[in-house]
Amino acid sequence: MNSPQQSVIFARDITRSLPMGKTVVHALRGVNMQVNKGEMVGIIGPSGSGKSTLLGIIGGLDKPTSGQISIDGVDISKMNEDQLTEIRNEKIGFIFQFFNLIPTLTAQENVALPIQFARHRQFSPDKRAKDLLKLLGLGDRTHHRPSELSGGQQQRVAIARALANNPPLLLCDEPTGNLDSESGELVMKTLHDIRREYGTTIVIVTHDAKLAGQADRVLTLIDGQINENTMVPA
Ligand SMILES: Nc1ncnc2c1ncn2[C@@H]1O[C@H](COP(=O)(O)OP(=O)(O)OP(=O)(O)O)[C@@H](O)[C@H]1O
Ligand SMILES: [Mg+2]
Repeated sequence: MNSPQQSVIFARDITRSLPMGKTVVHALRGVNMQVNKGEMVGIIGPSGSGKSTLLGIIGGLDKPTSGQISIDGVDISKMNEDQLTEIRNEKIGFIFQFFNLIPTLTAQENVALPIQFARHRQFSPDKRAKDLLKLLGLGDRTHHRPSELSGGQQQRVAIARALANNPPLLLCDEPTGNLDSESGELVMKTLHDIRREYGTTIVIVTHDAKLAGQADRVLTLIDGQINENTMVPA
């Protein structure tokens, strides 16, 4: 078994319990997971099984109740909010089902924003945003606002934004859940291209077994626990 230092994601005995009125929901019940550099891993499982909760913990948006989580060799379990913000900005790109773009900003401004916030800035925000949008086939949409773009185009802007600071890890929560099948396939193709080009490690939560089958490995979450099956890519 590899050490936390060699893995992009290294999770040990992660639990997450959430208060719900007078009771407690045990959303994660001892998750172990390890993802190596450049892997594409799918996560499937029924609604409510803990997929988004797990992704939030891997991405430093939420903290585990107990357990250890390291990202790119760094233990984030006990980091404070400022340290987590920096890790999120520099090491992790998020892609969500509902795109989560800022409606008042243009495509280019949305993509440039994480670069403007970066503490260790690697890129010129405007140039990098333009280059990424071009890479994603949106070179002629840089000045459009989200409401002036199709769903598939908005998700490609969101992918460009996730890549803005060249993170080693991309976390995608139902990235095609809100798209027609053609746009969904284009988004998946884009993710494959990015992995090939930059060696980015990608985790994709999906309800779609066919999409999950495109990953190297598929983890199934049931009731807050992981089952690993090795699936042959489709
Ligand atoms: N803020 C919260 N407070 C209380 N319970 C929560 C909270 N967020 C999630 N839960 C509960 O934790 C469990 C896991 O939720 P989670 O959103 O991770 O599921 P999921 O697998 O992503 O589901 P879906 O496929 O529907 O998106 C669910 O039972 C849910 O009701
Ligand atoms: Mg979810």
